[in-house]
Amino acid sequence: MNFSLSEEQGLIQQAARDFAQNELLPGVIERDEKQEFPTEEVKKMGELGFLGMMVDPKYGGSGLDTLSYVLVMEELSKIDASSSVIVSVNNSLVCWGLETFGTEAQKEKYLTRLTTGEAIGAFCLSEPEAGSDATSQKTTAIDKGDHYILNGTKNWITNGSSAEIYLVIAQTDKEKKHRGINALIIEKGAEGFEIGPKENKLGIRGSDTHSLVFNDVKVPKENRIGEDGFGFKFAMKTLAGGRIGIAAQALGIAAGAYELALKYSKERKAFGTEISNHQAIAFKLADMHTQIQAARNLVYQAAWDKDNDEDYDLSGAMAKLYASQIAMETTVEAVQIHGGNGFVKDYHVERLMRDAKITQIYEGTSEIQKIVISRSILKT
Ligand code: CAA
Repeated sequence: MNFSLSEEQGLIQQAARDFAQNELLPGVIERDEKQEFPTEEVKKMGELGFLGMMVDPKYGGSGLDTLSYVLVMEELSKIDASSSVIVSVNNSLVCWGLETFGTEAQKEKYLTRLTTGEAIGAFCLSEPEAGSDATSQKTTAIDKGDHYILNGTKNWITNGSSAEIYLVIAQTDKEKKHRGINALIIEKGAEGFEIGPKENKLGIRGSDTHSLVFNDVKVPKENRIGEDGFGFKFAMKTLAGGRIGIAAQALGIAAGAYELALKYSKERKAFGTEISNHQAIAFKLADMHTQIQAARNLVYQAAWDKDNDEDYDLSGAMAKLYASQIAMETTVEAVQIHGGNGFVKDYHVERLMRDAKITQIYEGTSEIQKIVISRSILKT
């Protein structure tokens, strides 16, 4: 077993760490407060190759492995989970799905824009009445020969107003249930496509989350991804990889909070000594450190599985379940270690605590991960 990173992976990790410190940290509190999308920062991440990390260089991607992607997600998320979710959705849910299942024409048309940051993407599966129960799609894509007519509403869509390219899941043949679902590529500005109001969220407030409305949107057949009826499998396969990205995000949030708490505990004095000298604080730090390392091992394992063509449904689900759970626990403890200061925005840990919560919800709630895990272990 080799636990060391390659030289290239180490350099990428350092580049992400530097970028997060120098470019994301300065405006992160303000963006959170004002719910401001990190437009300039996303542009720079495109230049650094963070938006199409695993995509073949012939489509403008960085051609790297999943572990490199996970390392970048972890470093960005230590500082700014609003920015890292943009990276995660673009890489795992949009670029990966398009590169793996798209036609050559689709890849040439869309991937190059998505990998360079010229455009970002959104993945549109959830609906007002179809969140965890993803097969219950009410959005319809009616087959009209050479095109589909798309009608319906999508909810809680990350990059909702900032995206240019949307992958939309919709029901074509209700009789066929999940086997009658399709995935379609829609561009911003398509006639009948409206962006709904922005959600006012607890966390990741710098990322823009919207509902989307489709009213008789005409979508050419060449914009369908995969065979007719492949849409649900497309969503499931894509989300399986997406969960590794969100697990890495949760890991980064936890590690970021821990690093702040560790530093603070060595500076803050109470009862005549640094608070890290009090066992009540030292034991919290010991638990946090252990949990983070355990989560990191799960996340890296899932990335390794994906890179080595092993099944990663199970390892990705376990990584997301555990990393998101400890992200919540660790950030709450980091606030506690900071005491009154932890409740104040300047110290960052309250934001990390708010940001951690979504990692237990999006790309499959913790309960959905337990369905995936239990089905996997019970079938063997
Ligand atoms: N890979 C390939 N195929 C898969 C699959 C996978 N990982 N998981 C399921 N499938 C296939 C099954 O094989 C089955 O196909 P066949 O009948 O042809 O064999 C089909 O999909 C239906 O599977 P199930 O019967 O298992 O379906 P289910 O209704 O029981 O649901 C579920 C399974 C795992 C609960 C699924 O509905 C699910 O993952 N729900 C959560 C959805 C989710 O994660 N939403 C997040 C929204 S996206 C988001 O958050 C993005 C963002 O912006 C950040």
